[in-house]
Amino acid sequence: MRVLITGGAGFIGSHTVVSLIGSGHEPVIVDNLSNARESVVGRIAEITGVRPEFHRLDVRDSEGLRRVLDAGFDACMHFAALKSVGESTEEPLRYYDNNVSGTVSLLEALATSGVRFLVFSSSATVYGEPTTLPVTEDMPTGSAANPYGWTKIMMEQVLRDLQLADPTWNVALLRYFNPVGAHHTGLIGEDPQGVPSNLMPYIARVAAGLLPHLSVFGGDYPTPDGTGVRDYVHVMDVAEGHVAALDTLAGRRGVHVYNLGTGRGHTVLEVVKAYEETTGRPVPYEIVGRRPGDVAASWANVDKAAEELSWRASRDLAAMCADSWRWQTTAR
Ligand code: NAD
Ligand code: WQD
Repeated sequence: MRVLITGGAGFIGSHTVVSLIGSGHEPVIVDNLSNARESVVGRIAEITGVRPEFHRLDVRDSEGLRRVLDAGFDACMHFAALKSVGESTEEPLRYYDNNVSGTVSLLEALATSGVRFLVFSSSATVYGEPTTLPVTEDMPTGSAANPYGWTKIMMEQVLRDLQLADPTWNVALLRYFNPVGAHHTGLIGEDPQGVPSNLMPYIARVAAGLLPHLSVFGGDYPTPDGTGVRDYVHVMDVAEGHVAALDTLAGRRGVHVYNLGTGRGHTVLEVVKAYEETTGRPVPYEIVGRRPGDVAASWANVDKAAEELSWRASRDLAAMCADSWRWQTTAR
């Protein structure tokens, strides 16, 4: 299928482009490069032997999108969004404009161009504080701890309303848990600007000696060792989940919701230990107070994706750490 990939130069988008090419699809990237480099396109070509078409474009530019879409597409995967939780509390309007208005603009352009198959990057953040674990797709959404999370809840609602109004739409809401790691070649990965706010990129910089130690946010949660539990999932597994959704859901109208995780949780200290063991590098840490807005534990029930998409994450925590480290130590 010919697939428009918004945000395709970013972390999850670029890995998905690699998987799509490997599965015989034809991805076309649009990205405004607000959080990515154009050199990623060359890296994708190095990995796959195919240089995907790339357009530097903002998804809020409906006219520009329509021109790209004129060439004819079968589907769209919508990754483009701002994703920093902290920044979203400081600049909520920028987040609502980029993420929510950007999505509305994209949907208008897709509808005009006759593309009604969309795979959307949603997040476990839409579940808020889970009432039961593991988290299933039918758990209520509705309350987020920050504007970023609210943009995801709102965009899911926009997509549901659109599909109700025009049942010919086919929408997959993929709720990622904690994507980490990198392509095993070390050629593409996550490239946060400044000091990372997410756990694994932070650990990678401590292991590399670029940051002195990790601050572990909270040591008194009701978890096996008192630190937060998350469902870390390899970014290539997430990428393959997108290909499975595209291949399985084609032609099936409706709104389809899937968790993309491994189905198991790890504490912060387990991740630290795994990183040290995999890389042979020390990761000094200090336990500090809880981070506001954090939940104690969250991991996914992944049965629905396994049954309906025939997809299951296959890479373990050691592979996530090894590939993160290879990316950390590869020249950018
Ligand atoms: P990323 O920042 O690496 O990728 C997003 C890409 O979108 C970037 O390349 C950026 O330049 C581009 N972009 C942003 N706004 C744009 C706009 N208006 N027009 C065109 N391009 C634009 O982030 P990521 O981690 O790859 O996340 C991809 C998607 O997955 C996002 O929607 C994010 O909210 C969602 N998500 C990410 C995580 C995670 O932990 N990384 C978890 C759950 C959901
Ligand atoms: C993981 C664990 C922290 C950093 C965030 C967003 C979520 C989603 C994924 C997009 C927690 C602990 C972290 C550090 C630490 N993004 N930690 N020291 O918070 O689960 O999810 O990214 O949708 O919306 O909220 O991920 O990697 O920030 O934290 O102790 O320096 O590591 O407290 O327990 P989180 P994270």
